Formats: sequence, C-alpha cells, structure tokens
Amino acid sequence: MRIPESVDISKVCVLSGAGISAESGVPTFRGGGESAVWKGMPFDVISSAEMVRDDLNEVWEWFDHRRKLLSACEPNAAHYALANIEECVESFLIATQNVDGLHDRAGSKNIVELHGNINRARCTVCGNLFDLDYKKSPHEPSECTCKGQLRPDVVLFGEMLPSGAFETAREAAADSGIFILVGTSAVVYPAASIPLAAKSAGAFLIEVNPEETPLSAICDESVRNVAGEVLPLLTKQIWGIE
Ligand code: OAD
Repeated sequence: MRIPESVDISKVCVLSGAGISAESGVPTFRGGGESAVWKGMPFDVISSAEMVRDDLNEVWEWFDHRRKLLSACEPNAAHYALANIEECVESFLIATQNVDGLHDRAGSKNIVELHGNINRARCTVCGNLFDLDYKKSPHEPSECTCKGQLRPDVVLFGEMLPSGAFETAREAAADSGIFILVGTSAVVYPAASIPLAAKSAGAFLIEVNPEETPLSAICDESVRNVAGEVLPLLTKQIWGIE
C-alpha cells in the first residue's frame, strides 16, 4: 500500500468493531450462529433497555454468561498491533464498538468505549461505576454501596451512547491523518458516522475487513483480509514497527 507523503501518519484514529475480536474467538453480531440467542430470546431482546426494567436478573445471567465466555479469550495480533502504533505516534485514539475490553488488555490506552464495557457495572440509582474482575462470574459486587441495583455498563438496544463518547471520537477523527476502520460492518449509527468526520477533514482512510461495507466506497484503501494478518503488516509498512 502506498501512503501519499502529504498524509500525517503521526495522528491516528481507529474505529473498531466485533471483527477485530473474531480471531480471539469472540462472535461477531452479524455473522450468524447460535451465539446471538439466550434462552430462546434474540440478542436484541435480552440486551435491551426494556429487559433491564422488566427482568434485570435475567439480563445479568446473560451478561455473566458472556463475561465467562469472554474471560477465556485473549487479545490477538490486531489488538497488539494497535497498541504498538499508539506507543510511537503523537496522537492516537481507538473508538471501539466492542464491549469485550480486549483493546485495554492488549495495552491500548486512549480508548473511547462507544458501547461501554462488559466488565463494568453501573448503579441504576446513583450512577456509580464498578470495575468487575473479568475472571469472576457471577459478577461482584452484586449491589451498590447505596444499596441500589447494578446493571451492566453497556449500551443496550434503545439506549443512548455514554455522554461525550461520540463527540470525543468525532474530534479525534477530524484531527487524524490516518483513519483505520477495522472489523466493523459500519451499519450502526452514530458510530458509523465517525469515519465520515475523518474523510471530510481530509484523512487517509484504510478499511480492514474481509467483506465490503457501506463505507468501503469512501475509503482510500480497503484490505480484504482478516485483522490479525493485516494490522501487523500495516504497522510494519507504515510506521516501521516490527
Ligand atoms: P458486526 O457483527 O456488525 O460486523 C463485524 C464485521 O467484522 C463484519 O463486517 C465482518 O465482515 C468483519 N470481520 C469478521 N471477521 C473479521 C476479521 N477477522 N478481521 C476483520 N474484520 C472481520 O459488528 P459491529 O460492526 O461491531 O452494538 O457491530 C456494531 C454494533 O452492532 C455492535 O457494537 C453492537 C451491534 O448492535 C451494541 O451492542 C450497542
């Protein structure tokens, strides 16, 4: 891949989605399979704001089940490649739609979790946040210090993004020289509009995805292969990182 000399490779912004964790064994959302169903309920029913109101215990059972599955997953070469880029550039931000915490475990620091984190709980009364040990399922603590009920700190269907998350990501995108879209089907908004802010500001857009997406057409380069293969190669080619 040839990057024009005018591109500022010291300012990097990334939008990641479920595909970056696929090689770690985490199922994607739109890849089909049994993983999207819990006790006969489709993913978007059990993971909904309505379900939190109606049956929070059931929601926790489902999330603790997913946390347990995820605890066996490790970051892959793609997560590590992004952590390595961050080490050697001036500005770097990953806006991730993933809740699996694998960017963090790979050593990335400047992460905006657009959809929250499965290993965090939030009090439904006072909003206090609790980091959960990713290896412990069921989750602890089970209630807030104010005795309020805890819920998973993730964005569920029918809910807004955490305050400020989208704005921070959009600003970093508009300030980036290189913008990488990796492992996202780019169909869920407002996350999918973040690359548009980068494009309008003149960034060089690289897509890493085995499949075409609705945003492929605006990318300067699309690499049709899996993230764990492509990102280590890109880091070597563009930033000279082995
Ligand atoms: P999707 O499941 O919609 O898309 C995954 C994308 O990853 C697809 O485009 C695949 O082609 C691609 N892919 C699969 N394996 C890959 C690999 N090894 N390397 C690179 N790409 C690969 O997941 P998201 O785009 O993340 O929201 O979905 C966005 C949001 O939809 C999720 O965050 C979730 C869901 O509604 C919430 O939970 C709020």
